[in-house]
Amino acid sequence: MKKAYVKSYGCQMNAYDAARMADVLGAEGYAPTDSVADADVVVLNTCHIREKAAEKVYSELGRLRVLKTERRARGLDTRIVVAGCVAQAEGAEIQARQPAVDVVVGPQSYHRLPDLLARSRERRVVDTEFPVEDKFDHLPRRRTLGPAAFLTVQEGCDKFCAFCVVPYTRGAEVSRSVLAVLAEAEKLAQGGVREVTLIGQNVNAYHGAGADGAPVGLADLVRAVSKIPGIARIRYTTSHPNDFDDALIRAHAEVPALMPYLHLPVQSGSDRILAAMNRKHTGDQYRRLIDRVRAVRPDIALSSDFIVGFPGEADADFADTLRLVRDVGFESAFSFKYSPRPGTPAADRGDQVPEPVMAARLAELQTLLDGQRHAYQRAAQGRVFDVLVEKPGRHPGQVAGKTPHLLAVQFDAAPHHIGTVVPVRITEAGTNSLFGELVSEAAAA
Ligand code: 5AD
Ligand code: SF4
Repeated sequence: MKKAYVKSYGCQMNAYDAARMADVLGAEGYAPTDSVADADVVVLNTCHIREKAAEKVYSELGRLRVLKTERRARGLDTRIVVAGCVAQAEGAEIQARQPAVDVVVGPQSYHRLPDLLARSRERRVVDTEFPVEDKFDHLPRRRTLGPAAFLTVQEGCDKFCAFCVVPYTRGAEVSRSVLAVLAEAEKLAQGGVREVTLIGQNVNAYHGAGADGAPVGLADLVRAVSKIPGIARIRYTTSHPNDFDDALIRAHAEVPALMPYLHLPVQSGSDRILAAMNRKHTGDQYRRLIDRVRAVRPDIALSSDFIVGFPGEADADFADTLRLVRDVGFESAFSFKYSPRPGTPAADRGDQVPEPVMAARLAELQTLLDGQRHAYQRAAQGRVFDVLVEKPGRHPGQVAGKTPHLLAVQFDAAPHHIGTVVPVRITEAGTNSLFGELVSEAAAA
């Protein structure tokens, strides 16, 4: 049987796309494999968000070229596919830099993979169009489902933050219709999925057409998904503060399936830098929004993204970021050094921050955020949480799952618990995971 190896970099939307590409290849008779050396088709689903992520692709491709030559010597064919946002941004340049690449395919055209692979036997192919047909209508049934799954509801971004390539690689905001989302969610539920994460580059700007054609917001979409039998938990990511409406806040108060966790990138705590980033909100507006969410869901766990060293960022600006982090308190966060991206407005600015300054700021910010994360985990000790059991644990006899606040927990339990929600008391906080013990239903808080 032919085999396909699919590797994904970057965000959850890429993870979703990678799974769907595996589905497309599966429908063509390719079995998934974890061993790249055995693969007849290798797909790298790439990320363009920062330079480091984009450059990784080329070192990986260098290794794949060697592998392809070795396999050819054994009479085996290997098709190399570059998909995702580097494919979209760089197109044919990729094949100029690495001739071993057979197919370059963008995030909107991967439903055409079988055809592209067939054509690549004649000559190398590039498809980075934003086709008129909707790729979702052309994707086969989803396979390999666990208890938790991503579901793309919205793609693209119209915000044009001054540092970001997404509006260029993923294009303008497009929402799938409510019917399309519900149909996919129902199939997921029938396939054993208990938790869906609705994903979009800017998911709270969701405005898909409802049954009558009128646009429906994310809050009402969440309410509709929560009515699907079998769906116990709903999450969504990633959000922009300016699209966070009252309806979504109310949904956090009223929809029990909507989990108390919010990833809401703020990027910086300095009003001057936020303006230069074209974020169109201030630090205090972000604080007030968090206050409003916490008023209805006091236990909500917060997560965010931060960029240090955006062009022109002075010590005082960075101090404002630290102050915002202290004021808000995050369960977890991602923080990055600013990386100038080709074609974005900030890349051309003359006041780039020197690398050592960025490194020092990143270390200081991460120390603060790590401290908050550890404090959050320590506070979980002794408490009982509902845990959705997702997979076997690291050690035999253990399973692994997530709390409503998205904390990973390992505990002793039989594998038949996978796919169920069970009460677990947290006994110990490790570095990346919590440890716990199954408690009787009656003890669940
Ligand atoms: N440099 C550094 N970080 C970036 N991000 C987006 N673009 C850049 C860039 N040019 C970060 C933002 C965003 C996350 C997905 O990646 O924090 O929220
Ligand atoms: Fe990029 Fe800003 Fe859009 Fe997020 S909101 S994808 S950071 S442009």
